Amino acid sequence: MQRRILILFLGCWSPVLLAQLNPFGISEQGLDYEAGRAIFEKVWVSSPSSTQASDGLGPLYNARSCEQCHIESGKGDTDTGLIFRINHAQFGSQIQNRAVPGLAAEPQPAIGMINTEVSLADGTVISLQAPQFQFEDSQEINEFSARLAPSLAGIGVLANIPITDLMRLADPADRNDDGISGRKGLGRFGWKADVTSLAEQVGLALSLDIGISSTLYPDPYADCTSMQDDCLMMPHGASEQHQEMELGIEAFNTLVNFVRQIPPPPVGQIDQAGQAVFDELACGACHASGFGSGNINPYTDMLLHDMGPALADNQNNAFSQEWRTPALWGLAAYTQRAEQYYLHDGRARSLSEAILWHGGEAEQSKQAFMALPADRRDDLIRFLQGL
Ligand code: HEC
Ligand code: HEC
Repeated sequence: MQRRILILFLGCWSPVLLAQLNPFGISEQGLDYEAGRAIFEKVWVSSPSSTQASDGLGPLYNARSCEQCHIESGKGDTDTGLIFRINHAQFGSQIQNRAVPGLAAEPQPAIGMINTEVSLADGTVISLQAPQFQFEDSQEINEFSARLAPSLAGIGVLANIPITDLMRLADPADRNDDGISGRKGLGRFGWKADVTSLAEQVGLALSLDIGISSTLYPDPYADCTSMQDDCLMMPHGASEQHQEMELGIEAFNTLVNFVRQIPPPPVGQIDQAGQAVFDELACGACHASGFGSGNINPYTDMLLHDMGPALADNQNNAFSQEWRTPALWGLAAYTQRAEQYYLHDGRARSLSEAILWHGGEAEQSKQAFMALPADRRDDLIRFLQGL
């Protein structure tokens, strides 16, 4: 009862209030938050198992916990955190490259790199690597969309930005003629902005990524298709012994509630010279800030943009070049990591590489970046490293 009241109460918070109360992520993190975190970090095991509360993994899966892909609720790396969405009669809607004992996993992706070099106006040369994905032992998977696990910091704040605020930024027909359109996706979550709610996204993750059934996706066989008889014969964790689904409704709500409360990154020192370059290059046309009463600065419009053919996925459909603008808040901490992965498939190893991949609606911004003298380019990078 107490918990239900707490959830209702949290549900009423406006994003502004949430951001104000939560600048350092210390406020409302009570017992419920910790319980949710435990589910986020729980390492699932295959059935049958003596630890029934944690069994139900798979039969096919990509990782055994949320945390393995969203490291410390942040981004993933390309070893574990990179998944492949497909639309395939045999393999379903995602490649699961791991399986419980006794079952063969789906084809493993192999990543090759093609290097190209880009020369900037001042003579600096930066090398870019374009991933070439292939699936071992399989000629059949030609259409896919590779996606890296994004950071979940502040995702509840992003979920709460009123749709009217985002629609104000959308300009699908490019009426203001700035070359930047911006289109609202079917939803707000995922790299294609096609998932409508956090609960749906969490249900989808449990099902497709870990093979755990829950209220919105109740099939314990998750992404096993009718062509995968061996998969459909494996034991699963949904039994009368604990509950109807591998993750019961109360635990599911606790997990969603945790995700909603993962705090936004702390606000760092803004580099004024770099901010001026960011503004001049119109980066903020997509990496938008100043929501709420101006104090919510995620540097994303949560809209889809055509980023040009070099960033297209391999789905070969009308949306292959479209990606939702990623938030740039949190770069201060992330850029401290020894290995960094940027863009939807993690191909860029540095901020400069990430910017140089921009094309399509962001072509002008990129060209302006390439034309900058070195000191102003450094200003921009320093600004980003402070977010
Ligand atoms: C195998 C890696 C993997 C695992 C495990 C995983 N995720 Fe994700 N997660 C991703 C990827 C990849 C995306 C982007 C999906 C897309 O673009 O369609 C994502 C997206 C999300 C998003 C949306 C973020 C946004 O910016 O829109 C949320 C929320 C999320 N995951 C929560 C979870 C939770 C909760 C769990 C555990 C139940 C989980 N994830 C497990 C890889 C993973
Ligand atoms: C037309 C909209 C648009 C403009 C203008 C734009 N970006 Fe982006 N930016 C995006 C999108 C969309 C992505 C994701 C593309 C992908 O992953 O394939 C992205 C990705 C990034 C990333 C990688 C973030 C991550 O976590 O992976 C950085 C850094 C970035 N942009 C910085 C900039 C800077 C700096 C500028 C100005 C020079 C700029 N962007 C201009 C839309 C835009």
